[in-house]
Amino acid sequence: MNPLSATLARVKPSPTMAISAKALEMKAADEDVIGLSAGEPDFDTPENIRAAGIRAIEQGRTRYTAPDGIPELKDAVCAKFKRDNGLDYTRAQVSIGSGGKQILYNALMATLNPGDEVVIPAPYWVSYPDMVTLAGGTPVIVEAGIETRFKLTARALEAAITPKTRWFIFNSPSNPTGAGYSWDDLKALTDVLMRHPHVWVMTDDMYEHLAYGDFRFCTPAQVEPGLYERTLTCNGVSKAYAMTGWRIGYAAGPEVLIGGMRKIQSQSTSNPCSISQWAAVEALNGTQDFLAPHNEIFVRRRDLVVDALNAIPGITCPRPEGAFYVYPSIEGLIGKTSAGGTRIDSDEAFVTALLEETGVAVVHGAAFGLSPYFRVSYATSDAALKEACARIEDFCGKLS
Ligand SMILES: Cc1ncc(COP(=O)(O)O)c(C=O)c1O
Repeated sequence: MNPLSATLARVKPSPTMAISAKALEMKAADEDVIGLSAGEPDFDTPENIRAAGIRAIEQGRTRYTAPDGIPELKDAVCAKFKRDNGLDYTRAQVSIGSGGKQILYNALMATLNPGDEVVIPAPYWVSYPDMVTLAGGTPVIVEAGIETRFKLTARALEAAITPKTRWFIFNSPSNPTGAGYSWDDLKALTDVLMRHPHVWVMTDDMYEHLAYGDFRFCTPAQVEPGLYERTLTCNGVSKAYAMTGWRIGYAAGPEVLIGGMRKIQSQSTSNPCSISQWAAVEALNGTQDFLAPHNEIFVRRRDLVVDALNAIPGITCPRPEGAFYVYPSIEGLIGKTSAGGTRIDSDEAFVTALLEETGVAVVHGAAFGLSPYFRVSYATSDAALKEACARIEDFCGKLS
């Protein structure tokens, strides 16, 4: 007998993790692999944050906390939303979870009934559709391709909304494209949402601080205060503070929703790690001085990768506004055959042949719901990026 549920049968394992696992396997076999598939910064957690974690251990802050977070961290989150986004929240409107992932999952579990639809722009972060499915809802995927620089248009959003739409999931800067919505880009979407009062907004602002050049981050409840009562503003410390392993994410929104999320968390994982919570207090309240130098490094790497990829015939790579990803199109390479004899009939065939023949690990666009593209994470050293781009160029040059 298959012990697994029918719901689980509809859920895919994380494809980004599958590529990383294959790359690790090749590395373990001593093959020369360059991994550009992981979604985490290569920086260490800043010293002051590490010290706060050590202090928490030494001070015995190692017991259960309130299921959705300590008051000190909720206060730090309220201060962050006020400082960075001009948004007013109270402790009762804040939830702390074990990573941004748990926050999003709790919110979907707390709100979806069978048949409820969730509008998700593609390409999307891989977990959104499967989380919706796990929670019993139906993902409605709306494509936003290279022609709109991977940004959803107001017209496409309007067309996707039905009486069954429960949530619109929004993510800027985006994983996997790095695309960032300007105030005007976002206002066009919030205007649509104002016409549909039954649709709630789940905004995933995880890459807020990874914003480059002239791009200025903004979030839906800030752009359209009329959406405040039906917006869950989600964020976390994983990416900007190089704290992926600490597992702290947070959100703020209407009290009734936060209460529902607390109920789920209290019956599943209980509180996020107490030590990590104290480290996150320091991350949010302490110096933010390391953000600008980190971003300078990311901009340099982004430009290095975008310039190198655009020099390859058959690849087109927009220069994104934020995060640490680029999402080049390989439309010009479809139908060719690699030196190793693989026919490139999809982006999955492309990334598989690239990994096997050159040792460069990237993720195929189909994993993010939009083909034919691939995602490069440039959160790795300049030297590794240069070598990887040279190998991609060599691989593409030998396609026939
Ligand atoms: C867009 C986006 N949201 C949420 C997350 C999850 O973050 P966390 O590691 O805090 O769970 C990620 C991580 O890759 C992400 O890219």
